[in-house]
Formats: sequence, structure tokens, C-alpha cells
Amino acid sequence: MTTRVAILISGGGSNMVRLIESMAADDHPGRPVIVISNRPDAAGLGKARALGVETAVLDHRTFGKDRAGFETALAEILAAHAADIICLAGFMRVLGPEFVMKYQGRILNIHPSLLPKYKGLDTHARAIQAGDAHAGCSVHIVTPALDDGPVLGQASVPILPGDTPDVLASRVLAAEHQLYPQVLRDYLTARANEQ
Ligand code: GAR
Repeated sequence: MTTRVAILISGGGSNMVRLIESMAADDHPGRPVIVISNRPDAAGLGKARALGVETAVLDHRTFGKDRAGFETALAEILAAHAADIICLAGFMRVLGPEFVMKYQGRILNIHPSLLPKYKGLDTHARAIQAGDAHAGCSVHIVTPALDDGPVLGQASVPILPGDTPDVLASRVLAAEHQLYPQVLRDYLTARANEQ
């Protein structure tokens, strides 16, 4: 039985595209069932549709400060598509503890730093500022604490003289595109073997 994967995005969705493409392999344990964006203008929405994956928009702004309302609506979309696991792929909203615990151990996130370093935003500028020799990315299980859950895999890239945050971001993003599909496959394979 294949695992039904929902992917949540907020922007360009390049990681989402790599995840969808990876799941096209015949022997892959997962398949993408829905891509959900909290931003109606996310460029990733069109890319998902072009790859034949259904999309939904859940605009967080229409919920104002009602995070519980947003997350209830999100859970309804996920349930309607019988999603087993959720991949956050450039999803720039923090999910509350109630939502996270509902999907405990079943939400993956990619974060553009070598966790536990640089949780939160502006990771590349902070790594350059600190004089680090390496930057990178981490895929981890989402827990209620921000960017804090168990790390499933990491990839490292050098920080080169003269790097700007944008230059470093694109080097890290290329590493993300390799890492996330591999970690998802390994995670789903291990999960299938447990069941
Ligand atoms: C990626 O670099 C991802 O690691 C980061 O947003 C970018 C999304 O790019 N995510 C976070 O910062 C989450 N805190 P993409 O939309 O092209 O995949």
C-alpha cells in the first residue's frame, strides 16, 4: 500500500517539485495526493498542477488571528484527501501544538540550516555573519517547538569567500533538492516496514 503524501508550500515550490518527481518512481512507497498553499499567489501551485497533482489554497489572511480556525480548515483538506503524512516544503507558517500533535511523527520539514544551528529565519545571513565554514540543510520531524524535532538527514555545503545570503541560499537549495527526496523515501520505507 502506498503512503498518501500531502505537501504544504508558501512559495516557489522547488522542493515540492523534487518530491513529486521522486514519487513518480514505480518502487516509491509514497504518492502525492494534494499540494496546499497558504498563499494564493504561490508559484508552486501551477507547477504542482502541471505535474498532475491536485492543489488547494488556504489563505491564512482570511483567518486573521484565528490560527485554530486555519488549522481546522487545513486538517479538513488533509482528511478529505486521506493524507497519511505531511511534507512542509517552504511552508512559512508555524503550526500550533494541537495540529502538530494530531499528526505526531507524521510531519516532515526541510529547514535551510544545519540544525540545531540557526532555527527560524535568515539562516544564510546568520551563517555568513558567524564566519561558519559550512552551511546546509536539515530534514526533521516537526514537533511543537520551532525547527526542533528529530533530524532525519542533513546535507552540508561550503561557505565560500564573498558569498552573499542569496548566493549561499541557491547553493543550499541545490543540496535540499537532493536531500529531501532521499529522506522522504527512507522515512516512508522505514514506516512501511514497521506496519
Ligand atoms: C527552502 O530553502 C526551504 O528550506 C525554506 O524555504 C525555501 C523554499 O524554497 N524553508 C524554510 O525556511 C522553512 N523555515 P522552495 O519553495 O523553492 O522549495
